[in-house]
Amino acid sequence: MESKRIADLNVSSRILLGPGPSMVSPRVLRAMATPVLGHLDPQFLTIMEEQQQLLRMVFQTQNELTLSIPGTGSAGMEAALCNFIEPGDQVLVAIMGFFGERLAEMAQRYGALVDRVEKPWGEVFDPVEIEEALKAKTYKLIALVHAETSTGALQPGIAEIAAAAHRHGALLVLDTVTSLGGMPVEIDAWQVDVAYSAAQKSLSCPPGLAPLTVSPRAREVLHKRKTPLTNWYLDLNGLEKYWQPPHAYHHTAPISLHYALREGLRMVEEEGLAARFERHRFNANLLWEGLDALDLPPLVQPRHRLTTLTTPQIPVSIDDLAVRQRLLEEYNIEIAGGFGPLKGKVWRIGLMGFSSRRENIALLLAALDQILR
Ligand SMILES: Cc1ncc(COP(=O)(O)O)c(C=O)c1O
Repeated sequence: MESKRIADLNVSSRILLGPGPSMVSPRVLRAMATPVLGHLDPQFLTIMEEQQQLLRMVFQTQNELTLSIPGTGSAGMEAALCNFIEPGDQVLVAIMGFFGERLAEMAQRYGALVDRVEKPWGEVFDPVEIEEALKAKTYKLIALVHAETSTGALQPGIAEIAAAAHRHGALLVLDTVTSLGGMPVEIDAWQVDVAYSAAQKSLSCPPGLAPLTVSPRAREVLHKRKTPLTNWYLDLNGLEKYWQPPHAYHHTAPISLHYALREGLRMVEEEGLAARFERHRFNANLLWEGLDALDLPPLVQPRHRLTTLTTPQIPVSIDDLAVRQRLLEEYNIEIAGGFGPLKGKVWRIGLMGFSSRRENIALLLAALDQILR
């Protein structure tokens, strides 16, 4: 069969309303066209330093060890686990969807003895339930997802969970891939030890960098490792030596992606965190009202919903794939289907960063109305 070739990268500019990547602002795209500098060029190091300050702003932290790792969100997840886990360590993972499962699998691959606490997909934990699980034995760390992209649910009570983890001698590792930049993430106020994210969701940059921040408490654990890390590339000691003066070579930084992330973060700063969160909330409300009117009620209870990602339930009479295909082909809009137990049961509609705009919601709701009629 002859394959269709896309000449000169002449791809459609889609309206990206899926779980990520989200749409990238023209300002960020222009930043990426800046001439490539060397990864040790003083001008580039200044750009990285600025990015580091901006990452602290969006994570709401003073953590010195705050940086971005080359790779997507999964690289952030991997770095957040492999640096702190040694073979035989006890790890607790609180799972309420697909990405919690990934955390458990990764921790296991690094040799941890993993215990799981689980919730049905679409629900969240009461922090008290997590504290109960923490009492069972002494865990080195507990990991969980803040904003579960597979279900659209936000885990509340992170400060309480962190306090419980610390009372029982464990570190808290938090996945903020779908919350950072779109919903409040307060690393210092909540006392989170390790958090990671991804550039391509609410920060609205192209995929390829994973922001990460590490508390002083977690750094102590890192320094007390007894066994060498088997993952060379994601070793935070090596990465830190590159980010801090005198900037020893570790890897060749993806220069253009760093330009993009710095610019995306500057846009977050200019908008202001509070205003940005309010924009996401306001637009999510518009979407929820419109979905209710179309008889597509979201799966998650209103008080636990993400404002960055909504999962409307698909009536049994509707063909999931056919609707998504028509949205893409006729309206140029991308949304996504569900995973695992939610496959065919929900759609996943992202309103993240630059995608979270009123005109996108109006177009999507009108398109769905036409298709479903
Ligand atoms: C909550 C969460 N964690 C981790 C990941 C993995 O990120 P990536 O696909 O960028 O590797 C995703 C991706 O959607 C996610 O939504």
